[in-house]
Amino acid sequence: MTTLAHYLNTNANSPALNDVITTVTGVGKTISQLLRKGALADILGEAGNQNVQGEEQKKLDVLANDLLLDALAKNTHCAGVASEELDDATPANADGSLLVLFDPLDGSSNIDINMAVGTIFSILPYQRQGQLSENSDFLQAGNQQLAAGYLLYGTSTVLALTIANNVVMFSLDPDTNDYILIEDNVQIDADTSEYAINASNYRYWRAPMQQYIDELIAGEAGVRGRDFNTRWVAAMVGDVHRILCRGGLFTYPFDTKYANKAGKLRLMYEANPMSLLIERAGGGATDAVNRILDIEPTDIHQRVPVVLGSKNEVAYIKDLHVKHAGQ
Ligand code: AHG
Ligand code: MN
Ligand code: MN
Repeated sequence: MTTLAHYLNTNANSPALNDVITTVTGVGKTISQLLRKGALADILGEAGNQNVQGEEQKKLDVLANDLLLDALAKNTHCAGVASEELDDATPANADGSLLVLFDPLDGSSNIDINMAVGTIFSILPYQRQGQLSENSDFLQAGNQQLAAGYLLYGTSTVLALTIANNVVMFSLDPDTNDYILIEDNVQIDADTSEYAINASNYRYWRAPMQQYIDELIAGEAGVRGRDFNTRWVAAMVGDVHRILCRGGLFTYPFDTKYANKAGKLRLMYEANPMSLLIERAGGGATDAVNRILDIEPTDIHQRVPVVLGSKNEVAYIKDLHVKHAGQ
């Protein structure tokens, strides 16, 4: 039996990285316990305010954010944090060598209905040690991430982590409160017949994405020549977990539903960490055409269209977009 602590100590990672991962996953244990108590812990419902992106905050969005912020502020290796729920990045320890970005609670709309939610995190190097970190220090492409992962609070709590080119999964043992390794070297099949998209936005998509979904729905009778099946958790963390477990395609594409929003998901603490996990597991991750991990960010809260999962399906979507652009 391999615990997370043992796994981290036996891999050649920097002690700083191991320590920050231990802090984030430690908070994950607390969030997991709170979720298990549910309504009895008075954690459900609205917090009564909005975040910087104009979204209603749930009590648990705020609570998870504060727990992560407090724990990381005390970690001497953490130079600063950026969160979905914070307007600006918060400096932590000037001598720290790492920056941590997170979506404290992904899938907020699932909280009150007892469905899966998660925490997503991304760890970047800090280049200006000795000085307090600022927003601009976080604006690094996803290919610079030193580690990334998520905690999925589902029927059990699972940690997916990528560090040193490997993707691993741990399950939180409720008896010992330890993360135990359940899967080493996670790999995704290149082909799939399962896809996830919020199809109610169909009329807002671009033509190639509409064509792609039309083809999947046509199934055996259409150009794809086989049937496809939809699965949608309504929390990216759940959909990505399914893809790491058995392949699949997840997309939250470009849409015109809201002016000035390129897509719904945020590049730095949703798309980048998930893209690193998926690519390292042999899958693909693009904004429909370009590799997400190569996007140079201009804002810590910027949004990006996301297409990720089984490699051949991600490539198929890219082809449709490239052909359409050339017409
Ligand atoms: P968050 O709860 O952190 O705001 O993110 C929710 C995201 C993502 O997890 C999911 O894929 C998507 O929103 C679902 O959105 P809709 O149900 O509104 O399409
Ligand atoms: Mn989210
Ligand atoms: Mn969130």
